[in-house]
Amino acid sequence: MSIQQEIKQLLKQKNTVLVAHYYVDSALQTLAENTGGLVSDSLEMARFGKNCDADTIIVAGVKFMGETAKILSPEKTVLVLDENATCSLDENCQIEDFSKFCDAHPNRKVVVYANTSAEVKARADWMVTSSSAISVVGYLHNQGKKILWAPDRHLGHYVQTQTGADMLLWQGACVVHERFKAHALEALKIKYPKACVLVHPESPQAVVALADVVGSTTALINAVRDRKETIFIVATDNGIFHKMHKVAPNKKLIEAPTMGESADCESCAHCEWMAMNNLEKLLKILKTGENEVKIDKSISNKARRSIQRLLDFTQQ
Ligand code: 13P
Ligand code: SF4
Repeated sequence: MSIQQEIKQLLKQKNTVLVAHYYVDSALQTLAENTGGLVSDSLEMARFGKNCDADTIIVAGVKFMGETAKILSPEKTVLVLDENATCSLDENCQIEDFSKFCDAHPNRKVVVYANTSAEVKARADWMVTSSSAISVVGYLHNQGKKILWAPDRHLGHYVQTQTGADMLLWQGACVVHERFKAHALEALKIKYPKACVLVHPESPQAVVALADVVGSTTALINAVRDRKETIFIVATDNGIFHKMHKVAPNKKLIEAPTMGESADCESCAHCEWMAMNNLEKLLKILKTGENEVKIDKSISNKARRSIQRLLDFTQQ
């Protein structure tokens, strides 16, 4: 029996569902889709886990995705493939410093990106994702609110330019998206003048400025599927190419350059933590039930409020 067949049997036997992000190994994405699970962006991963009727949710992604699933489904068992799979945004926004930052600006609404710990979400008024940040901040801005934003400064700056909101930004960054180089992208655009440039908003401002489409992972996949161009330059984690090739097999996809004076590879756009997810670890945790996500109840209850606000808002 192949490892995939063994995993499929165990998922069924244990009433378990696999929820995966677009950046993880393509074999995991295929399994999630073929077994009634989901492959998606971080917002839809959260919503799906909450609404499905499985007893156990296995999250193939990074730590904050497992925590969000557990916060929204406290009665379900949530497992992650590797407990060390984290995120530079989450790691660089520790609750002690973040709390002090919030305390220093009590007149601001605290809006945090999904890529944060349960504790940081518990301290926030709203959690947002890349697909929802502009609409939530725009809504708060229209109500006359000032924003305290954390942790991604590039996404924060992009949201600020799109909404005109008064935003105080935490200075975090995604180590993967920060590697994209505007000069090298400009050169690639000259080489492929008809290409459409797709950029995730965690990328630096100069790279975002060169984009035809700026959006969440789902928005970038939909752009490849729906737009009339046949060549796309893609500035996000290259794990996304699996789904892009699937939805648009005849289109040419090119990785946006990460090379630069200090880089040691031409395109290094792959998240080392997302890459920790694989089939072998999935089989192991299905057998052992290890890597269960556990969150303190009071933290979880507070964090749920900021996440639920977003789910309600995006369903309106
Ligand atoms: P999305 O919500 O766009 O999937 O982004 C999650 C992420 O971690 C991007 O680096
Ligand atoms: Fe975090 Fe960046 Fe990895 Fe996404 S790609 S999980 S933002 S480090």
